[in-house]
Amino acid sequence: MLKPSLKEARIRTKNDVVTKTSEYIVTEQLKTIGIGKKYYVKTYGCQMNEHDTENIKAILEDMSFTGTDNMEDADLILLNTCAIRENAHNKVFGMIGRVKTLKETKPNIIFGICGCMAQEEVVVDEILKKYKHVDIIFGTHNIYRLPMLIEERMLNDNLPEVEVYSIEGDVIENIPVKRDSKYKAWVNIMYGCDKFCTYCIVPYTRGKQRSREAKYILKEVNDLVKDGYKEVTLLGQNVNAYGKDLNNGYGMANLLEDVAKTGIERVRFVTSHPWDFTDEMIDVIKKYSNIMPYIHLPLQSGSSRILKLMGRRYTKESYLELVDKLKKALPNCSLTTDIIVGFPGETEEDFKETLDVVNKCKYDSAFTFIFSKRVGTPACRMQDDVSLETKNERLQQLNKLINKYSKEANDKYLGRVVPVLIEGNSEKNKDIMMGYTDTMKLVNVKCPKEDIGKIINVKITSVKTWSMDGEKC
Ligand code: SAH
Ligand code: SF4
Ligand code: F3S
Repeated sequence: MLKPSLKEARIRTKNDVVTKTSEYIVTEQLKTIGIGKKYYVKTYGCQMNEHDTENIKAILEDMSFTGTDNMEDADLILLNTCAIRENAHNKVFGMIGRVKTLKETKPNIIFGICGCMAQEEVVVDEILKKYKHVDIIFGTHNIYRLPMLIEERMLNDNLPEVEVYSIEGDVIENIPVKRDSKYKAWVNIMYGCDKFCTYCIVPYTRGKQRSREAKYILKEVNDLVKDGYKEVTLLGQNVNAYGKDLNNGYGMANLLEDVAKTGIERVRFVTSHPWDFTDEMIDVIKKYSNIMPYIHLPLQSGSSRILKLMGRRYTKESYLELVDKLKKALPNCSLTTDIIVGFPGETEEDFKETLDVVNKCKYDSAFTFIFSKRVGTPACRMQDDVSLETKNERLQQLNKLINKYSKEANDKYLGRVVPVLIEGNSEKNKDIMMGYTDTMKLVNVKCPKEDIGKIINVKITSVKTWSMDGEKC
């Protein structure tokens, strides 16, 4: 049993990151272990977790398991968890309870927990103590070990199989992937995070910042182009810090340019930390029409005092300067953000600063959150003197303002013709298709099914706060 250690997860050394190209192995015997068995994976959290699930699915299919969307039918259930806020955590514990009931009637189900919560010492301790029906726990660093973990669990069915590394992490290059979409793909460009914002659990659950070598990223994108993919989203917690840890003078601006040169029709990237956004990056975005005019630039707070307490290393003024620069250089660009309200010590004055930044930036949309204490982070030990009532009020007030600007931003699209990558049926109406504009606006489109997977011109006929309707031109 290898349990996570928060203390070890905090350590950062100067050791070089090692790229491993043959770490993932499935033995001949394991290749057939899943014949006739079904798997179900539920994903919580960010795009990185979604992409990890695409790796997990491919690994399970290498072992001959087949997927099901119905948990009740599954022989293997995995929860790929997120630790970012208390509510993500609670949802997972709710699901662990549901699987318990299911296992009472189907005791042979193998039930596993992975992802960011599996990297948390307190969570694993709680599971081991109270939830005896959990069979496998593995973390974000050893997804490639899944075949061995399943085998070991099958051979030894009395004990839970727990293997979580609390290491800085390597880069594993040979993990297979089963992509959810045939048209758009996630591509990791870096793992981990070294920013240690004081509220955030990610540096502990994902390890040290490790950039993938560009040759592997470019090969992946070139292969996607050959396979007919239209869009790639380059993924990382701080994509603009890409390459800093490789010390070879090749950074995000270079990578973006080389990815654009592959000819893929759409390039996106998330998430940009305001700290590392360089002028070179802006120049490259401007130069290549296949780099999408869409930037997600988390603000977190508009108060320089709170930003300092958060360890964000920029000020209200420097953030606004950057936004100004971006808007001047990329006038058609849409801008979205993340904001936390109710950080410990946030006063009404501080909150007003946040509203002020929102009024100045007029975001296209925003993810807004109430501060959530994460065990082991510095903010967890700060005195949290803002009442829940105040936090809720601030969130509501903020959302109202954000929605106002979302609607205003969308209103500008009315009557315009915009390119939309058609992804499939809209959820509500099977005869209507849905897709996203270059600026990441969700559009419900009247067009034939044959347009799925194509980028088509769409005339916007009506706009709402979170979506638009349009017709193929
Ligand atoms: N790497 C990205 C953020 C990843 S987490 C960045 O630095 O911008 C996604 C968002 O979750 C964060 O931007 C933040 O707004 C929110 N978040 C992270 N930790 C949180 C916490 N403890 N409480 C509330 N929101 C949090
Ligand atoms: Fe978390 Fe900050 Fe890293 Fe983003 S940059 S993942 S908020 S520590
Ligand atoms: Fe959640 Fe881990 Fe992503 S904590 S937001 S799944 S990096």
